[in-house]
Amino acid sequence: MNIGFIGFGNMAQAIARGLLTNKIITKDELLFSTHRKETREKIENAWKVKGADGNQKVVDHSDVIILAVKPHQIENVLGQLTIPESKLILSVAAGYPTQKLFQFLSPKQVLRVMPNLNAQVGASMTAIAENTAVSKKDTDTADRIFKAVGETVFLPENQLSIFIGLAGSSPALIFMFIDTLARSAVKYGMPKDKAVKIASQAVLGSGKTALNSDASPWDLIDQVSSPGGITVEAVLSLLQSDFSNAVVTSFDKMIEKDNDMSGK
Ligand SMILES: NC(=O)c1ccc[n+]([C@@H]2O[C@H](COP(=O)([O-])OP(=O)(O)OC[C@H]3O[C@@H](n4cnc5c(N)ncnc54)[C@H](OP(=O)(O)O)[C@@H]3O)[C@@H](O)[C@H]2O)c1
Repeated sequence: MNIGFIGFGNMAQAIARGLLTNKIITKDELLFSTHRKETREKIENAWKVKGADGNQKVVDHSDVIILAVKPHQIENVLGQLTIPESKLILSVAAGYPTQKLFQFLSPKQVLRVMPNLNAQVGASMTAIAENTAVSKKDTDTADRIFKAVGETVFLPENQLSIFIGLAGSSPALIFMFIDTLARSAVKYGMPKDKAVKIASQAVLGSGKTALNSDASPWDLIDQVSSPGGITVEAVLSLLQSDFSNAVVTSFDKMIEKDNDMSGK
């Protein structure tokens, strides 16, 4: 399967790394384009993969094209291309709705996909907007491509703004939590680098435990909280400081902002 990337910045490189590492494609099957010749040549040298001196060449070479330019560049890029209906287009542009992609592409050939920052380490939570006009084969191909950088979920397009709060923006909140936890340890004398490592691993492990367990997060909290113990003190203290309310309010802010930006 030939895969082409139009735009080969941070997100495209994370996806390409996942595809190559997981042997879903070989280097010969990959072709990319960038805006600037210098960037293309730099990447060609560093990655030992071929770059194209034009987006149409990427389209012509590829069975699947990953559109990974900034959202404001999409229209300019698509407006200049001739794309046969047999090619599958996967757009990762944040906040650029499928309906707008239909201005340039057949509904049968395009899926909007929303990976997150953690694609860089193969641990993305990626949403794929449901589009029943796309064949099962192409939908499965999209799923396989994004499973190379983490987990995937299919969602109706109108739930993508909720997804952005849950997985697109939430890494920032989780980094805040890691930093605050680590800083609390620094207060008691632990060096920051060790504290950050320990807090990060605790978050990673807790996520894995939640994913692999049938128990609800509250049941897991109970499992860690021995009667009369240390943890229950911390849990109650967070509840008293309105932790849940602060998280829910920050989520409401994300939804409000998304509504504002998309003119809802
Ligand atoms: N980064 C994330 O965590 C993340 C998460 C979810 C979704 N996304 C989405 O992924 C897309 C790319 O984001 P990014 O962070 O990877 O951006 P980026 O690092 O700035 O990369 C953008 C790429 O597009 C290229 N480009 C610009 N104009 C072009 C044109 N006319 N033809 C071909 N290539 C062109 C740039 O080439 P030059 O370098 O030569 O200018 C660069 O390779 C965005 O739509 C973003 O919304 C990103």
